[in-house]
Amino acid sequence: MIEVRNVSKSYGEVQVLRDISFSVKRAESKIILGSNSSGKSTLLRLLMGLEKPDSGEIIIDGKDITKLSEWELIKFRKNKSIVFQEGALFDSLTIRDNVGFKLYDEGWDEEEVDEIVFKLLQFVGLEHTIDMYPSELSGGMKRRVAIARAMAGEPNVIFYDDPTAGLDPVTSRTICDLIVKLRDIEGVTSVVVTHDLSVAYFISNFMALVNDEGMISLREQSEDFCFINSSFLMLKDGKVIFDGSEKALKKCEDPFVREFIS
Ligand SMILES: Nc1ncnc2c1ncn2[C@@H]1O[C@H](COP(=O)(O)OP(=O)(O)O)[C@@H](O)[C@H]1O
Ligand SMILES: [Mg+2]
Repeated sequence: MIEVRNVSKSYGEVQVLRDISFSVKRAESKIILGSNSSGKSTLLRLLMGLEKPDSGEIIIDGKDITKLSEWELIKFRKNKSIVFQEGALFDSLTIRDNVGFKLYDEGWDEEEVDEIVFKLLQFVGLEHTIDMYPSELSGGMKRRVAIARAMAGEPNVIFYDDPTAGLDPVTSRTICDLIVKLRDIEGVTSVVVTHDLSVAYFISNFMALVNDEGMISLREQSEDFCFINSSFLMLKDGKVIFDGSEKALKKCEDPFVREFIS
């Protein structure tokens, strides 16, 4: 679904990304770890086509997005979404208008948007907030609204930039549940930047299942119930120092990786 080949990016004299290569399969979560200023957010901006790398290729949906014009990028981004660290809702708009923003923009009529927005809010368990403003919601609720907004337009890829930053563990868990549900039930490919290892392991160890009645439940993977739907990438000073499964990550002998996961 995503293939990054030898991507480098500098700002002035500072090289932020150095010869980055990795790939993400359809409906897989790529979990990106790394300390502050290692280039994680920059990488997400490149993957969304918000900036261009200095060199290298980024193939998404079979196209090298580094070669697309601004107009083609707008089309490319129609079914891609990004959840920013702070949720980044519009404070002056209701939750309905925040979640429906992209759909209104695409010219859907009000009734259709209303119906879709309600369903999206139901998915994140916040349909009762539809007429409220962001200021009336807790930090965790805002983040869930941001995820509902990201789901509008049925994206096939969602990028999450530290979606649980500043949230308590219980609220973080509700965000992780949504990321896992979107991946396993809706088949959304995701790239999840996080500094929180418990978030990373949750996304890598749990999977969402839906039963005959349409009820969704989460199940922890084990020896006899294992479905590999995530992998890890670790950045250090703009370079990939690890790319592989959770099992391989835990066995990795690189001292920086060991220190990071210990
Ligand atoms: N637009 C920019 N102009 C100049 N420097 C930038 C810009 N964006 C990011 N940087 C620098 O690139 C480095 C990596 O930043 P970032 O991608 O935000 O890291 P992370 O998300 O891993 O914390 C930092 O040193 C940051 O100061
Ligand atoms: Mg960042």
